[in-house]
Amino acid sequence: MRIAIGADHGGFPLKGRLVELLQSAGHQVLDLGTHSAEAVDYPDYALAVGEAILSGRAERGILLCGSGVGACVAANKLPGIRAGVCHDTYSAHQGVEHDDMNVLCLGARIIGPELALELVRAFVQAKFSGEERHQRRLKKVLAIEQRYLAKK
Ligand code: RB5
Repeated sequence: MRIAIGADHGGFPLKGRLVELLQSAGHQVLDLGTHSAEAVDYPDYALAVGEAILSGRAERGILLCGSGVGACVAANKLPGIRAGVCHDTYSAHQGVEHDDMNVLCLGARIIGPELALELVRAFVQAKFSGEERHQRRLKKVLAIEQRYLAKK
């Protein structure tokens, strides 16, 4: 799978381990930075990862910040991005299976590296179930997005 990953300075300490894990599992990783511990702004990385997905350069994304929250809020502003903060493995795969989540957000100041690795494994291995009830609910989510995009 082609996976875009981005982090601010809060998420940076975790990014290298996750890139290694994904590459060793055979995934193609698009590392969109940041590349140092110097302070940066998380919306810039949320935008880069979101755009990589919307342009087709990546199928899924992973965003890391201190809590996971800021990056998640920013990523969800892009129509077509469905991001979630998941710090438990059930949500990390169920978010894909039921909600077609395409970006996993993690808080590097909240969870340790071993849990982060398990969360990323659960996320990338999961597939949208396509069941009728989930399709129906997703269509309603997309309708909300379309309605408010139309007001711009
Ligand atoms: C940066 O200090 C921090 O605010 C950011 O990484 C993130 O936690 C925001 O949600």
